[in-house]
Amino acid sequence: MSIETIKIVPFDDQRPGTSGLRKSVKRFQIPHYLAAFVQSIFNTVEDLQGATLVLGGDGRFYNREAIKIILRIAAANGVKKILLGQSGILSTPAVSHLIRKYYALGGIILSASHNPGGPEGDFGIKFNTTQGEPAPEHITERIYQNSRIIDHYKIAPLQAIAMDKIGEFSIENMQVEIIDSVSDYADYMETLFDFTAIRNLLTQGDFKMLFDAMNAVTGPYAKEIFQNRLGAARNALMRQHPLANFGGCHPDPNQAHAKELMQRLYSPTGPNFGAASDGDGDRNMILGNYFFVTPSDSLAIMAANASLILGYREGIKGVARSMPTSQAVDRVAEQLNIACYETPTGWKFFANLLDDQRISLCGEESFGTGSDHIREKDGLWAILFWLNLLAIKQDSVENIVRAHWAKYGRNYYTRHDYENINSDAANELMQALREKTHYLVGHRLSGQKIVTADDFSYRDSVDDSYTEQQGIRIIFENDSRIIFRLSGTGTKGATLRVYIERYEANVQKHDLDTQKTLKTLIAIANVIAKISEYTGKKRADVIT
Ligand code: G1P
Ligand code: ZN
Repeated sequence: MSIETIKIVPFDDQRPGTSGLRKSVKRFQIPHYLAAFVQSIFNTVEDLQGATLVLGGDGRFYNREAIKIILRIAAANGVKKILLGQSGILSTPAVSHLIRKYYALGGIILSASHNPGGPEGDFGIKFNTTQGEPAPEHITERIYQNSRIIDHYKIAPLQAIAMDKIGEFSIENMQVEIIDSVSDYADYMETLFDFTAIRNLLTQGDFKMLFDAMNAVTGPYAKEIFQNRLGAARNALMRQHPLANFGGCHPDPNQAHAKELMQRLYSPTGPNFGAASDGDGDRNMILGNYFFVTPSDSLAIMAANASLILGYREGIKGVARSMPTSQAVDRVAEQLNIACYETPTGWKFFANLLDDQRISLCGEESFGTGSDHIREKDGLWAILFWLNLLAIKQDSVENIVRAHWAKYGRNYYTRHDYENINSDAANELMQALREKTHYLVGHRLSGQKIVTADDFSYRDSVDDSYTEQQGIRIIFENDSRIIFRLSGTGTKGATLRVYIERYEANVQKHDLDTQKTLKTLIAIANVIAKISEYTGKKRADVIT
């Protein structure tokens, strides 16, 4: 073996955030930057010798280069086998599924999710463990500590790497198997949903769907699942070809970044059902004709209807939502008499609850929903869930949501993002808020008494791990909430997220405009946090 040892000076900015290490492509292109982080992962992970790993990414700029480097480092570190998605492509949910299906030690996902791509965009890398879940904090923290002291990495010599054809080759003693990126995942979906019922919905009658792949990884998955297996029309997919720069767009499935999809749905001749997924395929947006389903409502509706769906017929064990996600699902859990967990932001906090079979469904307000079928949120899974529900109910998206509100009440909900603000100012804003929480409880604002004001902390009930400073919560006696936190996935300056929620039981008041009905709370948030003063911005950059 002619493994080389490359001496390096460690980088000081490789602490993984909410979802792995995310930086600009330019940062990743600095010589040894990616290699140092990959070696830090390998220095952390136990039982690497002789192990199998899954590898793939969302196809964004630098994906192929990164894969070549990672393969050579893996070979030099004693990995026995790599399952690599064809052309280096795998969605995040597909990686999670493959790790579980083939009992791999773990996987490496190359993606910066919904962040823009291209030479001027972002890149990212994330390690998932044996159950297919994002590495928990104690592992990401050890990876970071290792990245601070690393002084060399090991790498196999350069060789031509053919990743576009299904097949096998070796690098030193390591076997690389190129696998179809889509088929395992699509097969799995067929076991969870009633494909016959969905096929009937899509092919008989006048039901029309439109899926926006946002020029990102789900294009090939959507083609196989919706068109080849479910018979969706040729024009049911838009932006279905994955591009390294996502066509210059922001591959984030929300009202702000899926404008054309929104326009097509908000039309009298528009489709009955619209959906989109993000850069790496783990997020989803659900739309009806002239109707937007908030991700928080989507989770609640799934929970309420899960027993109708093939893969969840036995009923669900429990549910979980990230703290800023609306409390809509809590009300369903109460009715079903099942546990409802509130976790910090980030999918990794659901992992123990899923592994321990305490929950079956979980979700985040940030367009993420998933279940115990894998250990990542799953965009196409959520969309199939909705299609299956529509096939069963034979009703519109809007009617299904309205019926849900009528039964459980409506949680009006919005998130306001202030992007690319000065990091020091953002930290000062949060610190000032933190100090304020000590005396806010008991005060009345606009007639509503504050019953909780704190910085959210979480103790995992499975492994007892503890996480603090997960967002400032201000909760009123009528269950309204204002939550502030700083993003852990951004790469430019800081992003302040303000989450606002108000519960309305009265069905006569379920048709109000979200921003208008939350106006008072939005104003309170601005005043309490002095947002304009700290950020210099009069209004949020993105409202979802
Ligand atoms: C954001 C979302 C969070 C999600 C994460 C990864 O993280 O808010 O819910 O888990 O992306 O998709 P943030 O930037 O807020 O730290
Ligand atoms: Zn994503």
